[in-house]
Amino acid sequence: MSKNEFTVAQLLDRVNTVRVAEGNPRVRALVARVVSDLFKTIDEMDVTPDEFWAATDWLSRLGASGQMGLITAGLGFDRLLDIKLDEADAQAGRAAGTPRAIEGPLYVPGAPLSKGEAWLSEDSPSKGEVFVMEGRVLDIDGKPVANALMDVWHANEVGGYSHFFPGLKEFELRRKIETDAQGRYRFRSVLPPGYAIPPNSPTSELFDALGRHGHRPAHVHFFIVAPGLRTLTTQINVPGDTYLDDDFAFATRDGLVIDLKRIAAPAGYESLGIAAGTQVALSTFDFVMQKARDDDEASPLTRMARVATA
Ligand code: DHB
Ligand code: FE
Repeated sequence: MSKNEFTVAQLLDRVNTVRVAEGNPRVRALVARVVSDLFKTIDEMDVTPDEFWAATDWLSRLGASGQMGLITAGLGFDRLLDIKLDEADAQAGRAAGTPRAIEGPLYVPGAPLSKGEAWLSEDSPSKGEVFVMEGRVLDIDGKPVANALMDVWHANEVGGYSHFFPGLKEFELRRKIETDAQGRYRFRSVLPPGYAIPPNSPTSELFDALGRHGHRPAHVHFFIVAPGLRTLTTQINVPGDTYLDDDFAFATRDGLVIDLKRIAAPAGYESLGIAAGTQVALSTFDFVMQKARDDDEASPLTRMARVATA
């Protein structure tokens, strides 16, 4: 038998088994599976060389653009991982607390920290309704969680996130809030509208080719950490958004669409620059955190930070 002439099956076997060292068995197993699936796709769908090299060129441009995290969300992978965690929770009888929702690719660590309350839009020219959100962080027994650390971040009125969208200040519309002794938090910002994937980008190329839109409904991200409690990554949605049930990232969840009351603010919000009588969109929302089973579940690292330390 020739050592260098292969059938497809022989080539695949060779690719997946050749080695001079042990390497990483988990990586080997995963790559073998993915390569096998792609061989099968190319074979069964008669992928032409031109199609194949166009795809690799797109992947190169996608990598260079830093937009990989946008693609994963749009193809459902981020939500898939949440569903898997939800299923594991249900199996273990611990499906409780505020639902998790995807982190998204646009978190940035190091936002300014303040106690009890924050004004996310204080240094921002963003336009929109004055938005106040307030409530408590609780554990699943309903006990207030003092000194929980809550990262909050969202897009401006054109769907731009600071750090990723040109022209915004470093931590514009990003803050970290420490809950007070009663577990309370509150913040002022501008009510965000929806978000859309960047036009004329590797991301938009793919979704155009798929005949899909790239819109996310208006949302605000949260990342909440407290000792002994399971880190909660979630989002809230603004009610009434056109894309609420048609999210490009499939990340809307029941229980995370907030109630909004349009009211004249009572006294008591002056420290957030809101005089009594100011028209505000107010939402009251409590976050409920599960107990952590181990240190890893209580990790203060977001998914992006975990990748950096892995
Ligand atoms: C994407 C953008 C977001 O703001 C988000 O929360 C999740 C995903 C994206 O562009 O894929
Ligand atoms: Fe987002």
